[in-house]
Amino acid sequence: MSEFKLRILFEGPYNGGQTGDHHGVPSGVLEVPLDINLNLLAHAQCEEAFLGSQCGGHGKCGADRILILKGQDALSPPTESEKRLLSTQDLHRGVRLACQVFPDQIISDIEARALGRGAHPRQPE
Ligand code: FES
Repeated sequence: MSEFKLRILFEGPYNGGQTGDHHGVPSGVLEVPLDINLNLLAHAQCEEAFLGSQCGGHGKCGADRILILKGQDALSPPTESEKRLLSTQDLHRGVRLACQVFPDQIISDIEARALGRGAHPRQPE
């Protein structure tokens, strides 16, 4: 277990950078210790958070989009699935598919914003 953490911000549906609770979608922050063996979707799932995944993490749906805000240099490079499902513009600005990204090296915290439809910090009861 690492001293460094993955922090995911949940701020409602992607809305061009505004913050707050929008349209009834929960806001919140997930913090989980970084594990080099887990992709970022699995990190979130360990804490029962939902990132919008519709394909079970197989790189097919493109629904678990996150925007990397900090720690991009410590992440695995974009996969073929990401190149297929994300625009070049999104890739350049730091959008990734959580199921495709691993912490390549654990040298700092990683911070991201959940962009997936219906993403929330914890599954409803
Ligand atoms: S969960 Fe479907 S592409 Fe990542």
